[in-house]
Amino acid sequence: MSRPEDGRARLGGFQERTERALEATLPGAGEEPRRLHEAMRYSTLDGGKRLRPTLVYAVGEALGAASETLDAPACAVELLHVYSLVHDDLPAMDNAALRRGRPTCHRRYGEANAILVGDALQALAFEQLIGATTIPPRRRLRMLAELAATSGGHGLVGGQFMDLEATGRRIDRQSLEDIHLRKTGALIRSAVLLGAAAAPQAPRRALKAYARCIGLAFQIKDDILDVEGDIQMLGKPSGSDRARGLTTYSELLGTAGSARAAAELLEEAHGKLEPLGERAGFLHWLSDYIVNREH
Ligand code: IPE
Ligand code: IPE
Ligand code: MG
Ligand code: MG
Ligand code: MG
Repeated sequence: MSRPEDGRARLGGFQERTERALEATLPGAGEEPRRLHEAMRYSTLDGGKRLRPTLVYAVGEALGAASETLDAPACAVELLHVYSLVHDDLPAMDNAALRRGRPTCHRRYGEANAILVGDALQALAFEQLIGATTIPPRRRLRMLAELAATSGGHGLVGGQFMDLEATGRRIDRQSLEDIHLRKTGALIRSAVLLGAAAAPQAPRRALKAYARCIGLAFQIKDDILDVEGDIQMLGKPSGSDRARGLTTYSELLGTAGSARAAAELLEEAHGKLEPLGERAGFLHWLSDYIVNREH
């Protein structure tokens, strides 16, 4: 297991690397149509914990993937994530005013433009991965297939749809778990699997099980922070799940109960990393961070 200071430093290194890769991928603010590209950059750069790209880098490096093959999949998952945040915040969805400590994309650029920003970010995620010639074509195709499946009706979009449908209705734990695994778990799973797809060999079954645990634990923690955190700490509004009448783990199990559920998933996640042995040191640290983070 990484020492805490080593874990922090590696996370910081991957965050910087993500920032550079995104900067190199996004259209310049001076490119036409300027306001669209400015809004895409506004929503993407200088913010976020970059957890999903960090998972791509961490899994890829643990399995011996060539370093230059990881930037494109890392960027792709973050671009998809940012698109999902821009749309998640829209008035027709969660109607949020603040994201990453700044006005949400639609508050700053207008609602129609924010819809288009999300659309363009999603297309860019696929476009830049398609063009990533440092990755052999077969591997690239496998990554693209995984990401496409994750993004659609069986994954993120399906999860968001079910989340909206469940708004204002009481649902049981099984249904809630299903929503969490789709709206949030799917992309986290893809981050892990894209890191693995860049490597010569990977214990895919163990990694899928690992990703399921941290994906679910991640959203349980997000729900806990929505209750316990404040706007300053989170950089986004708290209390919004309750205001929307959304069933959360905190509501079903109480804060202590949902923290216990996240802790159990975390323990299971550590166990799933066993086949990676010592190479998984940073992944163990990152899993702890996902569940114990304060924002
Ligand atoms: C927030 O994700 C949205 C969810 C899927 C719950 P993050 O907590 O990873 O957000 P950023 O990227 O750090 O802003
Ligand atoms: C968002 O879940 C999931 C996606 C963006 C796909 P939330 O609605 O809980 O995310 P936050 O709390 O607004 O970041
Ligand atoms: Mg939402
Ligand atoms: Mg939201
Ligand atoms: Mg939330």
